[in-house]
Amino acid sequence: MVEFNVAVVGAGYVGLTTAACLASLGHRVVCADVNLAKLDGLSHGETTIREPGLRELVVNGLETGRLRFVLGAAAAASGADVVFVCVPTPMGRDGAADLTTLETVVAELRDVLPPGCVVVNKSTVPVGTAVRTAELLGRADVAVVSNPEFLREGSAVEDFLNPDRIVIGSEVPEAAGRVAALYELLGAPVLRTGPASAEIIKYASNSYLATRLSFVNAIAELCEHMGADIDDVRKGMGFDRRIGMSFLRPGPGWGGSCLPKDTRALLRSAEAVGCEFPILHAAIVTNVRQQELVVDRVRQAVGGRLAGVRVGLLGLTFKAGTDDLRDSPALVIAERLATEGAELLGYDPGVPSPVPGMTDRIRLMETAYHAASGAAALILLTEWPEFRDLDWERIADLLAGRTVVDTRNLLDPFVLNKAGLAHWCVGRPAPQ
Ligand code: UGA
Repeated sequence: MVEFNVAVVGAGYVGLTTAACLASLGHRVVCADVNLAKLDGLSHGETTIREPGLRELVVNGLETGRLRFVLGAAAAASGADVVFVCVPTPMGRDGAADLTTLETVVAELRDVLPPGCVVVNKSTVPVGTAVRTAELLGRADVAVVSNPEFLREGSAVEDFLNPDRIVIGSEVPEAAGRVAALYELLGAPVLRTGPASAEIIKYASNSYLATRLSFVNAIAELCEHMGADIDDVRKGMGFDRRIGMSFLRPGPGWGGSCLPKDTRALLRSAEAVGCEFPILHAAIVTNVRQQELVVDRVRQAVGGRLAGVRVGLLGLTFKAGTDDLRDSPALVIAERLATEGAELLGYDPGVPSPVPGMTDRIRLMETAYHAASGAAALILLTEWPEFRDLDWERIADLLAGRTVVDTRNLLDPFVLNKAGLAHWCVGRPAPQ
């Protein structure tokens, strides 16, 4: 295997995972960021991102000398064969991706890139960004490649090292070949495309997953009205190999830092070229509706009015296994409940203390039992497995009401019923 000199610009969850994993594959990696405190921590093996296996890879990379951290893109680029750009592309005001950080990094790199090196866009960027990056660089000797990431939070290292596919979009075969060689040890299928196709593959994948979930959530609502059970229905669908089992679990709506942002960005890109994309619009509307349905259900459980009513929230993060609250359906639902006057007690094993971005309308409690104390209803919003093993008899004693709204269908109905609680799921008829 050829060992390359790699620069990674951005030590966020994509950049740091990319840097640490490429170092573990034997490449010499320099990872840059603009945050000195973060760099100092990383240089001592301290990772602030909650990602299984990441810390170990960082520590190993530092010990073997294959991974270093430096301040600024220019410092990392010196001597690099390949420069990965892994910077945030947040949602702008109009829903389109905001490329300001990316463009700043490209401007910084322009005059310092070694001759013949390859710049790789790993950030999620709209179609046309690879071409625009090449224009901004203005360097005939530097090729730009689009190589989107498909890492899930909570299993980013696992996803990086065992990818379903590696997509490499470039017009320059030598540059595409060099990027493919970086990943050679993984033995994963490599799909070589043009840059526009690679860029659209990323958005299409996330938007498809979001649309699939909205479809499942809509079927779940039908199940509630028609006396069916969504868990049986999704299994019956998933055994069809054309459909498959994964990404079919109903919930409180999809969230996180990627699916909501990328669906909106794709919709804006489509509109910009005169395409309406109604199915994607419907997926987004259905997701908003899914969160409203949860609020309706809680209102119903407490007798029709939420004003002055205490509600317990189990889970605040957008999914289990992460401490990430960005675009979490749990927080959207909490905001709505609070707007109607509910008093909210919340608990999340991944969020031990209040963090920026978290609404101050939730009183963060130390345990699930504290969150249940005196509540008229308890809502499970994130599928942390440990919630299943709570002492539900004790919770029943602590609750003022009887209803547990389980938006992830996580809990054991038998255990809850035995504790005298009404277990309200998604996609199953309501308990009488
Ligand atoms: C997502 C994609 O899955 C990754 O492939 C992609 O690389 C990443 O975005 C990104 O663009 O960086 P992630 O945001 O970590 O990964 O979250 P997912 O695991 O995909 O979950 C997204 C949302 O769907 C969560 O709110 C989750 O609770 C929900 N979900 C997922 C369900 O409601 N049901 C399911 O069956 C699966």
